[in-house]
Amino acid sequence: MGTLWPAISVTQRLHSKNPYKGEVVMSETILKVQGVSKVFSSKKVNIRAVNNVSFNVSKGETIAIVGESGCGKTTLGHCIVRATDVTAGSVIYVGENGREYDLHKLDKRTMRSIRKDLQMIFQDPYSSLDPRMTVFDIISEPLRANYRLPKKEVEERVKDAAARVGLNPSYLKRYPHAFSGGQRQRIGIARTLVLYPRIIVCDEPVSALDVSVQAQVVNLLKDLQKELDLTYIFISHDLSVVEYISDKVGVMYLGKMVEFAPTGELFKSPRHPYTEALLSAVPIADPTVAGDRIPLEGEIPDPSNPPAGCYFHTRCRYCTDKCRTEEVELQEASPGHFVACHRAEELKLKGIG
Ligand SMILES: Nc1ncnc2c1ncn2[C@@H]1O[C@H](COP(=O)(O)OP(=O)(O)OP(=O)(O)O)[C@@H](O)[C@H]1O
Ligand SMILES: [Mg+2]
Repeated sequence: MGTLWPAISVTQRLHSKNPYKGEVVMSETILKVQGVSKVFSSKKVNIRAVNNVSFNVSKGETIAIVGESGCGKTTLGHCIVRATDVTAGSVIYVGENGREYDLHKLDKRTMRSIRKDLQMIFQDPYSSLDPRMTVFDIISEPLRANYRLPKKEVEERVKDAAARVGLNPSYLKRYPHAFSGGQRQRIGIARTLVLYPRIIVCDEPVSALDVSVQAQVVNLLKDLQKELDLTYIFISHDLSVVEYISDKVGVMYLGKMVEFAPTGELFKSPRHPYTEALLSAVPIADPTVAGDRIPLEGEIPDPSNPPAGCYFHTRCRYCTDKCRTEEVELQEASPGHFVACHRAEELKLKGIG
């Protein structure tokens, strides 16, 4: 599987035009995820899809959430926008007025008044758009569902959103089947923008798109972020896209956050063996750099019956007896760099870039 991103050289990587990278910006917290857990229970099993996850998000930044299929990325996204209830923990959103809202404790009315601030964009632009509605109706639907706005204002907001995502105004009368994957994802983004959101959880927003279109949509998201001062939680399992777009990365394994660090640091100096293994699988464009792929041995354990000790120990090449028996929590190893590994202090792990 190839993407456009692995072709980016190490030097280009270091100079990628992320407006927030390398600058000292006063950070203003917009979101606090505190000990969030989500358990799906059925008669037979309990699956802890998200297990005691905590991190803070500053206004205007992009936090990537990465990890293999089933590790809980989408469920965490749903908890953040309160599309699902949490089993434990809280999600604190700092509103434009500076007030803190404990999202999962809010009454329906207050939640409704701030729901528009936290939105989600989905992976599949094909299934999320109703084929019987015109593009105008699709984009305006969230407005009509949430507000009673004068027709003129609805029209203005839809036209503005369409223009921002690069959709020709004449397209608004058409139906979604007439559009390519990239254009459908633009329609999906415009549908979110009409609400004037502040935080957008982007769940694999480009994974379903042709490789040639992925870069356009990612760059569009970056431009919109700058123009509209948006904050992104960017869920992905494509580390090359993540390196390009994010300021910080959270690595999840079996529902737990095992590493959380600024993007450049995580790629250069990972501190969790799982991150090291994921990074070793990223294709490197520079032929002079040896890429030793570290195989992730064994299967991902059954999430309804996770291993004792460190959840990753069954697949870890550095595993010791302690790892098999003692649980490990995320701890700050150096300023801003969090890791959950018994051996984080002593291991010298290999990054890229
Ligand atoms: N509604 C549900 N009911 C029961 N189990 C669920 C539900 N949604 C998710 N799960 C389980 O929770 C775990 C996490 O799923 P989730 O979809 O959040 O993972 P993900 O990291 O987004 O995976 P992917 O990369 O495939 O999208 C999985 O074991 C999944 O089977
Ligand atoms: Mg998912």
